[in-house]
Amino acid sequence: MRRCLALFVLLSAIACGPKPSVPEAEPTGVPDEAPADAGADPVAEKPTLPVIENVTTLPDENPDPDIVEVTLTAQPSKQTVAGLALDLYTFNGQFPGPLLQARKGNRVIVHFKNELPEPTTIHWHGLRIPADMDGSPRIQSPVPAGGTFTYDFIVPDAGSFWYHPHVRANEQIEKGLYAPFVVHSDDDPKVARERYLLVDDILLDGKGFVPFLGTNHEHVRGRVGNVLLTNGSVQGEGLIAVARVGEVERWRVVNTANARTMVLSIENAEFRVVGTDGGPLPAPYYVDKLEVAIGQRYDLEVIYTNLGEVKLLSSVLTRNAQNEVVEVPYDVFRVEVGGPSVQSDLLVWPTAPLPVRPVDATVSMEFDVVNDPQLGIIWRVNGISHAHAPLFTFEEGQTVRMKLKNLVGPEHPFHLHGQFFSVVDDGTPASKQPGLRDVALLRGLGSLEVIAYMDNPGRWMAHCHNLEHAELGMMLELVVTPKN
Ligand code: C2O
Ligand code: CU
Repeated sequence: MRRCLALFVLLSAIACGPKPSVPEAEPTGVPDEAPADAGADPVAEKPTLPVIENVTTLPDENPDPDIVEVTLTAQPSKQTVAGLALDLYTFNGQFPGPLLQARKGNRVIVHFKNELPEPTTIHWHGLRIPADMDGSPRIQSPVPAGGTFTYDFIVPDAGSFWYHPHVRANEQIEKGLYAPFVVHSDDDPKVARERYLLVDDILLDGKGFVPFLGTNHEHVRGRVGNVLLTNGSVQGEGLIAVARVGEVERWRVVNTANARTMVLSIENAEFRVVGTDGGPLPAPYYVDKLEVAIGQRYDLEVIYTNLGEVKLLSSVLTRNAQNEVVEVPYDVFRVEVGGPSVQSDLLVWPTAPLPVRPVDATVSMEFDVVNDPQLGIIWRVNGISHAHAPLFTFEEGQTVRMKLKNLVGPEHPFHLHGQFFSVVDDGTPASKQPGLRDVALLRGLGSLEVIAYMDNPGRWMAHCHNLEHAELGMMLELVVTPKN
């Protein structure tokens, strides 16, 4: 742990970044109003989507206002990260990959080319799209090296999502294949600015990536990194933004780490949670600290109440001089807030509360591990690892209570493909968990109860989003049969 901390300090000291750029006087990122008669107009204009700061947006190649068409290439790329030349895997040569944005109900067409030296797929994490477009290697045969595939689907829900491969994900994601995906809704309240922050950690030594799955620790705890990254940059490496007092921004946050639950807080500004994995919340709420499990998203409204520096802090566990484990704040993003101040009102989200649905079925899942004399550490659900036959079958439209129990130490961020769920009991008395989710944390030796809405028929994966646990077996399949 001490060596890890030394590396943190060392690597962040090497980095020095460009000065913050000056914001334009008028807030950008405000979508143009669609003309009132857009539907009747034979040459309908493509609506302008909000600019999302801190990420690069994929160009949309299709003039049709209801279609977003893009090209994505997975390719190796050598780039300097944390002062080291790393052999990354990237989408379109960018780390993190480019932002894909669409409006709710749009058709999205992705021309994908695999220029990696190995097979891959793209999983559109959180999007409730047809199963054959979900990038699950159980359903779509992986795209071979040099191969192509066209993803084509309608995006049904507004919110913050992300995309990443689903083949050897522990290695391909760690090497850089992850990117933001935003689906806008015409109801999104307008803010001064939107940002997407992808919080990650990677495990490096002096030469580059530490070999994958090389230690027992990595098999058991997962690959806990020693370099924290926000949008691919280390602390202080250019991720400094500017804003004005009184402005309200929307920050979309995702935890893209392999094995670290992020604990985030914001210093010197107010913030409230306005959205989760499944999109906007009917009632925003305030917290001091935000626990973001791997794969989860939070939409925050950040209100700049004071002049000066605002910091997004990530708590990192380390040892103090007395050799006790303590949480230290580490700043992963900074905003310089200047004047003159502007007047903004807090925004109101026009979101209806979730309808309450009676539960039709209850299933149980037990998460554990065995140490096989031949195979080593194997992670299991209900005694099965890498389950290739569906563990459960449901009918489209069913509401299912899932009771999860963790029989061993490490926590498991449970992820369900293709559907959303609500967390009804996260095993702690205090924590608040409103909103729809596709990932929820099953704590060490803890229990978790969720209500899943099986509204999307198909064959789906569910797995632990600790990518090492998933790779070492903690994956299962379930089937949702179409109604009729
Ligand atoms: Cu984000 Cu099955 O994964
Ligand atoms: Cu796990």
